Amino acid sequence: MSEPLALHGGRPARPALLPYGWQAIDEDDVQAALAVLRGGRLTTGPRVAEFERAVAAAVGAAHAVAVSSGTAALHAAAFAAGIGPGDEVIVPALTFAASANAVLYQGGIPVFADVRADTLNVDPADVAARLTGRTRAIVAVDYAGQPADLDAIGALARDRGLALIEDAAHALGAEYRGRRVGALADLTAFSFHPVKHITTGEGGLVTTASRELDARLRRFRNHGLAATGWSWPVSRGSCCRRSLPMSATRGISSPCCSSPSGSAPTGARSWRPSAPRTSASPSTTCRSTGIPTIRPAATGAGSARARSGPSSAS
Ligand SMILES: Cc1ncc(COP(=O)(O)O)c(C=O)c1O
Repeated sequence: MSEPLALHGGRPARPALLPYGWQAIDEDDVQAALAVLRGGRLTTGPRVAEFERAVAAAVGAAHAVAVSSGTAALHAAAFAAGIGPGDEVIVPALTFAASANAVLYQGGIPVFADVRADTLNVDPADVAARLTGRTRAIVAVDYAGQPADLDAIGALARDRGLALIEDAAHALGAEYRGRRVGALADLTAFSFHPVKHITTGEGGLVTTASRELDARLRRFRNHGLAATGWSWPVSRGSCCRRSLPMSATRGISSPCCSSPSGSAPTGARSWRPSAPRTSASPSTTCRSTGIPTIRPAATGAGSARARSGPSSAS
C-alpha cells in the first residue's frame, strides 16, 4: 500500500514549505535600509520620491505615485478615476481578487468580462458586450505579464469617455507595440510584492500622464491631505496608503527600475472626464482601514473632478 499523504501524517516530499516569494537581497540593499533607519524619516521622505522618479523614467510615464501595495495602487486608481457608488467597472474574470476589490472599495460594481483562451487576457468583444450606461471604467489586467489588447480596449474606453485602468501587477517592464506598460492607460497600477519582478517587501505604485490624476492619487494616499506651504486642507474620500522609505530603497536598487534607453518621461496628457454619473450615495468605507469616507453627492453635469475630486470636497 502506498504511503499516506503528508497531510495525513505521511513523510513530506519537502522538509520545509516552498516559499511563496523568493527575493534576492544583497548587502547594498541591507545598507540602504539601514541608512533609512538611521536617517530619521521612516515614512514618506526623499527615498520614496527617488523611487517614484526612477519608475516613471523606466516606463516613460510623466507621474508615478508610490503606495503601500498593488492593491492600494488599484484602490488609489479607482478613486482617482472617480469611481463611486453604483458605478459599473468592467474587470476581467481571470485575475487576482484585488482587481475587482478595488472597485468594491469605492462602492462600485465589478462587472466581469471573459478572457480569451489564447492570451488569457480580457476579450475586447466581451468587454463591449457588457458596457451599459452605468459603466464608468475598464480595468485591463496584463495577465502573467502579457499586455492586454490595449488598442481595442483603449478605443472602447475613449469612445465612451471611460477611464482605462491597467492592472500591471504582473507587467513591470513589459512592452506593447514598442511602448512600455505604464505609459499606455489613464492609470497603471504596479505591485512590488515579493512574487513580482522587483520587490519592496509590500508596495505598489500608480503611473499616469495626467497632472490632475497625479494630484488626486497623492491626496488619496495621504488621508486627503494636500501640502500647500504650511496649510494642509483635508478632503474626504481618501485613505492612508503611503509607501515606506525602506521599501522604496529596495525598489530603487532593482534592475527593472532602470530605463534601458534612458528615456525621459513622456509629456503630460490631459485627463478626460468620464460621462456624468446619474446617482451617488453619500458614503462608502475605506476597507483597508474601516474608516467611513464621505463622498459628495453628484453635482449634475460635472466631470469626475467636480463630482468626487478632493478639491470639491475640501
Ligand atoms: C493581477 C494582480 N493585481 C493586483 C495584485 C495585488 O498586488 P499586492 O499583492 O501588491 O497587493 C496582484 C497580486 O498578486 C495581482 O496578481
